[in-house]
Amino acid sequence: MRKRHTMNQVTEPMLLRPAEKNDMRAVFEWRNHPDSRKNFGNSEEIDWPSHQKWFTKKLAEESTRIYIGIYKDDRAGIIRFEKTEKGAEVSVNVRPGYSGRGIGTMLIRKGTSTYLSDAGPLKPVVARINKDNHASQRSFEKSGYVKVGEDKNQYIYSLEKPAKKP
Ligand SMILES: CC(C)(COP(=O)(O)OP(=O)(O)OC[C@H]1O[C@@H](n2cnc3c(N)ncnc32)[C@H](O)[C@@H]1OP(=O)(O)O)[C@@H](O)C(=O)NCCC(=O)NCCS
Repeated sequence: MRKRHTMNQVTEPMLLRPAEKNDMRAVFEWRNHPDSRKNFGNSEEIDWPSHQKWFTKKLAEESTRIYIGIYKDDRAGIIRFEKTEKGAEVSVNVRPGYSGRGIGTMLIRKGTSTYLSDAGPLKPVVARINKDNHASQRSFEKSGYVKVGEDKNQYIYSLEKPAKKP
């Protein structure tokens, strides 16, 4: 298990801004980091041309909102919401080396409330989390999501009530 930096919790508020083209490289590096990859449905390493194509498409898509968390003037993580027929699905990735300090929880709380005010009325926002990813389960729980189901490998969490103010 990764070391938990409980002594080094974040002390300042995190800012959130929409992702832009010049975040492409950072997001690529975070996505391919082994600590991140093992937690995603597709844990394969992504090649740069595929990432460029994917990220450019996602930035342009009306149904997708991507935000970057900024902590102490540096990028600290990404959160992405994709509209589905039933509501929205959320995916989060904290910058490698920044985990275990409260960043993930702040990203989910702030990201969810920003998304809900950007994208309209409250709809179910769902997260699919690997059963062994305790940090993610805890971060979503602390942000107002509750476990509503499961399949073989993942738990399904859903936002029951709007997240508390970050
Ligand atoms: C999962 C992730 C978003 C969590 O963000 P984080 O900044 O590391 O988490 P936080 O510091 O906000 O901690 C949230 C809670 O998880 C707990 N936690 C953190 N690391 C943990 C670990 N390795 N094992 C168990 N619990 C852990 C914290 O103690 C805290 O709970 P507490 O307040 O009860 O003590 C982040 O680690 C990440 O991006 N991981 C890689 C990609 C990923 O897993 N994305 C989610 C896919 S669904």
